[in-house]
Amino acid sequence: MSVQDPTAASPGGASAGRVPPPPAGGVTIAGTGLAVPQKRLTNQDLERLMDTSDEWIVQRTGIRQRHVCDFSRGESTYTIAAAALRNACDDAKIDPATLDLVLVATMSMESTCPPSACRVAAALGTRNAGAFDLSAACCGFVFGLNTAYGLMRSGQYRRVGLVGADTLSRFMDYSNAGRSTAILFGDGAGAAILTATDDPTKGVIAQAMHSDGARFGDLYIPEDERGYPEGVEHDPAMVHRVQMNGQGVFKFAVGTFPDVIAQTLDKAGLAAGDVDMYVCHQSNARILDAARKRFGLAEDRLYVNIDRYANTVAASVPLCLHELRAAGRVRAGHKVMFVGFGGGLTWGTSLWQL
Ligand code: UT7
Repeated sequence: MSVQDPTAASPGGASAGRVPPPPAGGVTIAGTGLAVPQKRLTNQDLERLMDTSDEWIVQRTGIRQRHVCDFSRGESTYTIAAAALRNACDDAKIDPATLDLVLVATMSMESTCPPSACRVAAALGTRNAGAFDLSAACCGFVFGLNTAYGLMRSGQYRRVGLVGADTLSRFMDYSNAGRSTAILFGDGAGAAILTATDDPTKGVIAQAMHSDGARFGDLYIPEDERGYPEGVEHDPAMVHRVQMNGQGVFKFAVGTFPDVIAQTLDKAGLAAGDVDMYVCHQSNARILDAARKRFGLAEDRLYVNIDRYANTVAASVPLCLHELRAAGRVRAGHKVMFVGFGGGLTWGTSLWQL
């Protein structure tokens, strides 16, 4: 727990007092953390459940294992989100009670109400802080970085806990019928503590947020008859199961993901090589590899950990961020591009000067 920290908000948030003027300073990432469920599901485990093979999965996706919640033991999105945020607070050496705002980027909140973020805040003892969920599928954490940055630059929030957490195993069919999606997704949570700083050079240099809702049918989870794209009949067997046009999303990602990187570099007036690290949504190793090659980047400039976690949706970017910070490969002074793409369809970036 930190005391007398100049970046600390008053308990209950900066918004509890008089509204300060917009700051001249910037925003920095002061700590990160991750949490994944204990239970691992390897490709060999999946071979026993469905007609698939380790070789097929590794070749097509780069995935070797994923972590999945044991829901019967109370694990769920908010429990792993809270664990990740607690770890990030420890890393930043701050008391969770001093957070102004808790944002949880997720598409697998426990229920429509309350927001998972409120339960995360309660679990950490930050009951007075603002808390809400941000739903942008695989882009959730990246859009969350831009959202938090904008709120903090208003001067009214000085310390924000941002989490990306998803538990898509809840929406999987681990039988032959679900094999094209069940191999791809895993559960996890990653978090970052964003703090206001007097240094105006720190924070977002450029960003992009886009969507094409007309293509939602490429990746969706129907809840009832209203949840289907045009031309698809309601089928009870599809309810609460991820529906994905794998090849359609693959083609979208291979084109759009590098395009949005190029667009962001252009906005910032930077070349691809000026960015120290690309922290990208982990959807498929082949998609990441294609983007890296398009920009002529060395392997160590675009991080890949999909082999150990699979596609964890909103958690994939902060899982990478935490591992990179812990290894000293992302640190103060670096330029880091965060990139998301996926369901919605959505795609976007957040380019930071750390
Ligand atoms: O984060 C959200 C964004 N999501 C993505 O970015 C996902 C993008 N898409 C993908 O990563 C790929 O489309 C997949 C990995 C999901 C699938 O790979 P694919 O190369 O597109 O395979 P496919 O769906 O075209 O299927 C090829 C063959 C089919 O058999 P036939 O028709 O050629 O005989 C499938 O039935 O592979 C078969 N197949 C499997 N075989 C073994 C499908 N799933 C499996 C499986 N194991 N799990």
